Amino acid sequence: VNYLVEKSRGEIVDTLLTGLDRLEYRGYDSSGFAVDADKVNVNYIIKQVGKVSEVRKLVQAANMDMSKRFSIHVGIAHNRWATHGQPSQINAHPQRSDRSAEFLVVHNGNITNYRELKSLLESKGYLFESETDSECIAKLAKYVYDTHNGQIDFTELLKLVLLEIEGSYGILIKSTHYPGEVIAARNGSPLLVGIKSERKLKVDFVDVEFPDITVEAVPDDMSTQLHPRLSFPPPANGLLDTASSLMVPGLHNDLRHSQSRAFISDDGMPIPTEFFLASDLAAVVEQTKKVIFLEDDDIAHIYDGGLHIHRVRREEGMSSIRSIQTIEMELQQIRKGSFDHFMLKEIFEQPESIINTMRGRVNFQNKTVKLGGLSNYISAIRRSRRIVMIACGTSYHSCLATRDLFEELTDIPISVEIASYFLDRRPPLFRDDTCIFVSQSGETMDTIFALKYCIERGAMCVGVVNGVGSAISRQTLCGVHINAGPEIGVASTKAYTSQYITLVMIALSLSEDRLSKQTRRNEIIDGLAKISAQLEEVLKLNDKIQAVAETLVDKPKMLILGRGYQYATALEGALKIKEISYILAEGILTGELKHGPLALVDEDIPIIMVATKDKLFDKIINGIGQVTARSGKPIFIASQNGPALIEGSNKKENGVTETAAADYNGAEKSYVKFEVPETVDCLQGLLNIVILQILGYWLAVKKGYNPDHPRNLAKAVTTE
Ligand code: G6P
Repeated sequence: VNYLVEKSRGEIVDTLLTGLDRLEYRGYDSSGFAVDADKVNVNYIIKQVGKVSEVRKLVQAANMDMSKRFSIHVGIAHNRWATHGQPSQINAHPQRSDRSAEFLVVHNGNITNYRELKSLLESKGYLFESETDSECIAKLAKYVYDTHNGQIDFTELLKLVLLEIEGSYGILIKSTHYPGEVIAARNGSPLLVGIKSERKLKVDFVDVEFPDITVEAVPDDMSTQLHPRLSFPPPANGLLDTASSLMVPGLHNDLRHSQSRAFISDDGMPIPTEFFLASDLAAVVEQTKKVIFLEDDDIAHIYDGGLHIHRVRREEGMSSIRSIQTIEMELQQIRKGSFDHFMLKEIFEQPESIINTMRGRVNFQNKTVKLGGLSNYISAIRRSRRIVMIACGTSYHSCLATRDLFEELTDIPISVEIASYFLDRRPPLFRDDTCIFVSQSGETMDTIFALKYCIERGAMCVGVVNGVGSAISRQTLCGVHINAGPEIGVASTKAYTSQYITLVMIALSLSEDRLSKQTRRNEIIDGLAKISAQLEEVLKLNDKIQAVAETLVDKPKMLILGRGYQYATALEGALKIKEISYILAEGILTGELKHGPLALVDEDIPIIMVATKDKLFDKIINGIGQVTARSGKPIFIASQNGPALIEGSNKKENGVTETAAADYNGAEKSYVKFEVPETVDCLQGLLNIVILQILGYWLAVKKGYNPDHPRNLAKAVTTE
């Protein structure tokens, strides 16, 4: 938003498109923007599939007067990473309320009740044009506006809209009914406001008096006396100092008629200011370093040159301060956050990405799971004679990690197939088989060919995919998007945990009608409710893992052992380590030790044993005994406060066995142990794998390799 900062349309469009370029690192499949046209009730809207450069091409071809100058102007722009509806021009944002685009919306996130809203609005005569969930926001805004005959403030209008929508969002809305204004809100998706003023901002934070009053940010030379509506003891020199808190009394409920001005000069006139609303610092940091990070349920309304922050609902105990922060970071740093590499960033995103996978799907109160993309097919899948899971690489491991649970909850035979091997064999397949294709990209050629093979044989084909609109999501009959967000690091991390959770949700859905499985299902759903917080706990081990990596960095080979649910953890952990640190790491089923791998065990080879507590614990202890008897010195991934792992460590001084918990005074003390929180057996792999992801990362970094770009590997392998 430019307020009294004169700019040409060309400069405005360029600012928007440069912002989109800066977000390119997060991955996207289409982009678009809207700017004011020459008449107040018209917008120029340009959007296109592909890179931002495709939008630039359309701009060049469009007949827009780029030299036209504006002193007040609102533009909105968006990069889309599809979650509902494949990448297409019509699905790109901004989404509009109607043909004349009275309301234009850009939206990040996921509106989980959009189907209900869509049918409601359709029954009121609204015609939807896209497959997106976001379109319902624009239409709902117009509906609210029309039902109030236009007699409604933009803030009030948005509040009414937000009370109807469920799910996550970071949204911006511009409207021909509110020229020169923009309104924004967030819930679960990031949103910030960058402020670039012609004068240096001095006040570092803003007090927001809830529920309705706002405002903040004052240039450093603003005299308090000239701001009669602010009540606070005026500083002796008449200037605000950086430490002062600005209290704005509850003056106006009708903001449109208020005199509030966030940026007013000595002569009472607004100070020329530009506001940049964005989901990510990278988009604004080249414009300004002064930023307010909005909180969930904040509404930011910009009009008359002022920024006004409101709350969707009245709440007790909510902080009424929004600080203006000065960002010290440069673009490159921001892209990776505080992390040196995308891989580590994505590992640390997992507590959030797994929540996004479950959002709107798992109801923790009612203990139900609703997967919209499968709802019409669930009973057909239940009747399958067999379920075949097919994937490559990390995605294959997510199938292995959940196979036992599918077998247990569905009582249907399950086979898990590596796509290329499946194709080599061309095994028998029948019309009453269900095939589940798991793929982060949705573009892996081996998996696509396997899908084609299964379609030809009439099997029911289900996709579990991150890439919306990808080949696999288009060609399967039905499916579930894992909604992990773009994954940049070639070594897959957050996609694995989201695939894992998605497959658990499918198994839960398939068994919803099974009375005999209710207790087990409830236990798993309770486990899912806690898993994000437990994953946060595991991430706290980062420093310890880094220190252990230091001791392993010169080792040429490594064994990773697990059994039962943890066999997949061993395989996936070994894959992470070998693909980025180039150490020859092998994942081994502990039960197979004695059939060969035991020959490798000596006091030198690093052996990581996944030894978290589950029903196979006695067998795990047995495996540990086999290793330690050959002078092997395992590194353990174990349950927090779990039972003893090493014989002798659980003996009290008088020789009596203490079975409850390991005492650390015994033999076990000399072994390295990463302790992770305990969850339900079938979810434990979600926590255990994080240790090995982090270990792989540090091994690569310490060996001087770039974990984001392992040699010889590609993120999506689109050749056979
Ligand atoms: C490539 C990637 C792996 C990925 C595999 C399967 O090899 O480097 O990280 O697991 O492909 O990819 P998909 O996109 O089908 O999950």
